[in-house]
Amino acid sequence: MGRYLDLIEGLPKNPKRWLVTGVAGFIGSNLLEQLLRLDQEVVGLDNFSTGYQHNLDEVKDNVTPAQWARFVFKEGDITNIQDCRAACTDVDYVLHQAALGSVPRSLGDPIATNATNIDGFLNILVAARDSSVKSFTYAASSSTYGDHPALPKVEETIGNPLSPYAVTKYVNELYADVFGKCYGFKATGLRYFNVFGKRQDPNGAYAAVIPKWTAAMILDETIIINGDGSTSRDFCFIENVIQANLLAATEERDGATNQVYNVAVGARTSLNDLYVMLKTELAALGVKYRKEPKYSEFRAGDVLHSQASVEKIKQNLGYTPSNSIADGLKIAMPWYLKKLRRG
Ligand SMILES: NC(=O)c1ccc[n+]([C@@H]2O[C@H](COP(=O)([O-])OP(=O)(O)OC[C@H]3O[C@@H](n4cnc5c(N)ncnc54)[C@H](O)[C@@H]3O)[C@@H](O)[C@H]2O)c1
Repeated sequence: MGRYLDLIEGLPKNPKRWLVTGVAGFIGSNLLEQLLRLDQEVVGLDNFSTGYQHNLDEVKDNVTPAQWARFVFKEGDITNIQDCRAACTDVDYVLHQAALGSVPRSLGDPIATNATNIDGFLNILVAARDSSVKSFTYAASSSTYGDHPALPKVEETIGNPLSPYAVTKYVNELYADVFGKCYGFKATGLRYFNVFGKRQDPNGAYAAVIPKWTAAMILDETIIINGDGSTSRDFCFIENVIQANLLAATEERDGATNQVYNVAVGARTSLNDLYVMLKTELAALGVKYRKEPKYSEFRAGDVLHSQASVEKIKQNLGYTPSNSIADGLKIAMPWYLKKLRRG
């Protein structure tokens, strides 16, 4: 944690201007909150396609009025280059999170996913380059490992993509790499592994497993487990993702920038074990869930097992995951309970 602790101590004394795209979404709004708490200036860009005004309202409630006053929100679309240029003006660091997430969504509408995740990505990359930002850090994805069976996942060894979403996230890496080589532009990719935490959307067909099951348990609905429950993931609490973004953005050493990094814990939890963990955690908060889960088919496009090696990001950026899945669930569950009980 050494470098990160130094960083969060130093940033308030030397505020910078950050652009967070996808700022009304789960990860973007959590980045916004941490940056404002550190007295940074933040520009946020979002088109509210999967993000919400209520996420921004919650951040406003969690920071001081003086900190909130350092935030400028621009409603706009990354598929529009003018919106990207306006957002990048006078920015030091870009944290690019805007994208259409979800493997199933991309299987249903690959054109929409491609437009935002590839065309939009290229727009923001060009706008950031033209604004001479200090660095560009972007949300890549563990889906890039595709069909490669090796565990743990090491950055240099990837397979073939298994979904349109995975194609788009891999293309992001290729563009970022080429912009480094051709324009000397500092772009670093963070391959997130199943992130979870407060403000992750529990609703809709494309909800991630932790918010979806948590909501189902709180609302006493039946949980569907895709496959036999042996599918496993390296679930990563949002605080670890915030740490990785801040470390990557402010890293200046050649060799440590213009890389892709896994962002995870380096552990693996099966869906069956996750089910028990959620049930136990919620029981401790007074939610008694007595229904049995239903098992269904494995989902198309999903990889069976995923677990990261986090050696590279530890070595190069000084990342140390602060929260295990159990730590993260302890923090996230009360938030869901409060939100969902309120209706
Ligand atoms: N959550 C995860 O586990 C995970 C894992 C791997 C990668 N990622 C990546 O992390 C990033 C953030 O994901 P998230 O979980 O916060 O998702 P999210 O859907 O909560 O946030 C994405 C945000 O981007 C905005 N957005 C989408 N299209 C846009 C466009 N064309 N113009 C402007 N804004 C647009 C949405 O409105 C939303 O606020 C995404 O790039 C996603 O692919 C997430």
